[in-house]
Amino acid sequence: MDLRSVAKVVGIVALCVAASASAVGLAGAQPATPTISAGPLAAAPTASPSPSADHSPSPNATAGASPTDAAAAVAPATPDPASSPDWGVVAGPDWVVTNPEPLPPCALGEVATPLSGQSAWALTLVDTTYTVGSGYVPDDLVSAGAAGLSNYQYVRSVMIGDLRNMVGAASAAGAPLGIASSYRSYDTQVWTFWYWVNMLGYDYALKSSARAGHSEHQLGLAIDFESAGGPDPWTYYDFARQTAAGAWLKANAWQYGFIMSYPLGSVDKTCYGYEPWHYRYVGVAEAAAVRASGLTLREWLWMHQPYPEPDSPGPVFVPGPTP
Ligand code: DAL
Ligand code: ZN
Repeated sequence: MDLRSVAKVVGIVALCVAASASAVGLAGAQPATPTISAGPLAAAPTASPSPSADHSPSPNATAGASPTDAAAAVAPATPDPASSPDWGVVAGPDWVVTNPEPLPPCALGEVATPLSGQSAWALTLVDTTYTVGSGYVPDDLVSAGAAGLSNYQYVRSVMIGDLRNMVGAASAAGAPLGIASSYRSYDTQVWTFWYWVNMLGYDYALKSSARAGHSEHQLGLAIDFESAGGPDPWTYYDFARQTAAGAWLKANAWQYGFIMSYPLGSVDKTCYGYEPWHYRYVGVAEAAAVRASGLTLREWLWMHQPYPEPDSPGPVFVPGPTP
């Protein structure tokens, strides 16, 4: 039984992490799995994970990047920390590159991400290494009902206007959108990750699910889209090719400030397998710049992290057991 079949059998619902997409990303034409070194991990829950936790109605409970030569349009990598002395301030439309360091490998770690301020949302980087920690909760969560989507899904208010416009445009184009999963709290992500560890094993889970503290869903800026009224997007072999909603998003989401975080064939750059339903809101200006760069979102965000990294007390992490 392949991983997609496993997902269907267990009735996996409304989770960003997806067995089917894992199958696409892991069994498909993906590059070799990057080396993941052992590192400190969030403690596993003591009871069996429940994927239904993701459905909580309470926020407390819970481009296709086209590689092009447009990367040349990105400003030269000139270290210029003086240009952004306040790490909480988001860069302007000129998007000055501040970090000349090469993209790091997808190592497991618990490094406090430098731009974790609520106002720095557009440039907050979370990956397998960088984390916002357990205490991070967006301060402006609102129901996605304000954008014409589910009243029981929550997102940051910063995206509502663009999300509403995107929902309207997609619907007008015959590709109405729904939400499978949006904001997930740290605690929900703990359950989510360990659910997938139990389902798929630790190594596959690492390619499909962020460990708690490392998910864009915890930022309140990620949405797993589905076709309105349709099945979970990860039940498709390729949501972007097999549904009108997925295809429309891939072609148009960037115009509304959303970028597909984990495009096909980019696991060595993004750290996760292909997730054609997972979009991160970064704002219209930055999304256009990301798309023009031809870079994946993680590469882009890395280039725009403060350099040298500011000293920060950051959250205190307690290493957990390694399965
Ligand atoms: N599936 C993505 C990586 C997440 O869990 O945030
Ligand atoms: Zn997701």
